[in-house]
Amino acid sequence: MNDKNNKNSIIRLFNVSKRFGGKLALKDITLDIEQGEFIFISGPSGAGKSTLLKILYLAEKVSEGQILIDGMNLARISSSKLPVLRRRFGMVFQDFKLIPNRTVYENVALVLEAAGEKPSYIRKKVMQVLRTTGMEKKLKALPPTLSGGEQQRVAVARAVVGEPSIILADEPTGSLDSQSAQAILDFLMEYHKKGTTVLIASHNLHLLESTVRGRNIEINDGIIKRTATML
Ligand SMILES: Nc1ncnc2c1ncn2[C@@H]1O[C@H](COP(=O)(O)OP(=O)(O)OP(=O)(O)O)[C@@H](O)[C@H]1O
Ligand SMILES: [Mg+2]
Repeated sequence: MNDKNNKNSIIRLFNVSKRFGGKLALKDITLDIEQGEFIFISGPSGAGKSTLLKILYLAEKVSEGQILIDGMNLARISSSKLPVLRRRFGMVFQDFKLIPNRTVYENVALVLEAAGEKPSYIRKKVMQVLRTTGMEKKLKALPPTLSGGEQQRVAVARAVVGEPSIILADEPTGSLDSQSAQAILDFLMEYHKKGTTVLIASHNLHLLESTVRGRNIEINDGIIKRTATML
């Protein structure tokens, strides 16, 4: 067995491409991510950062190539197993994707209800993540009545509430002031310290300065341009 196979890879991409009509958003991406890694995906607007996170979350299908999650080939997963696999991921969408006619509390609780958790656990856990994201005072509010930054914090709360093994966060601080952004980053770092694999996509390189040791994967025009270890 070679070194690559000995690694504790949780996500492996082999020659993955994603095409939208005539546009190649990701070109021949091969990437190995280990359990517990912290990955910062950088690159300019339109580089393919969101597309990369969405194909991992199965929100978009790849056009070519293979993705393995914990050794499972996504192309071969039966649709009955998909919900269970998805629960391993917590995704913060760049455009939040909150359910507009459900309250803040309900948006976050839905994750745990779908996982069949007990009502008493759901109440406790949802309140805990809303407190740490600073949203406990708005638990009865509907998303359209919230500011962009508040919606973003709910999106982060929803992504982490199910204690996923992989957090995919797409510009998770893009709508926040620097103090709230730091608080959200620190919050995501806490999960990383507990062993969660965390991928943060952002074009804001300043965020890198306040993150922990990990890997910066720089993409541009759908291609990995550079990979650097952050110290
Ligand atoms: N659903 C879609 N249909 C058509 N083209 C798309 C779609 N989603 C993304 N693209 C294209 O793919 C490319 C990569 O988009 P993507 O959203 O991944 O970039 P990004 O790096 O996240 O940019 P930003 O920093 O602005 O969020 C862009 O050229 C975009 O126009
Ligand atoms: Mg994006």
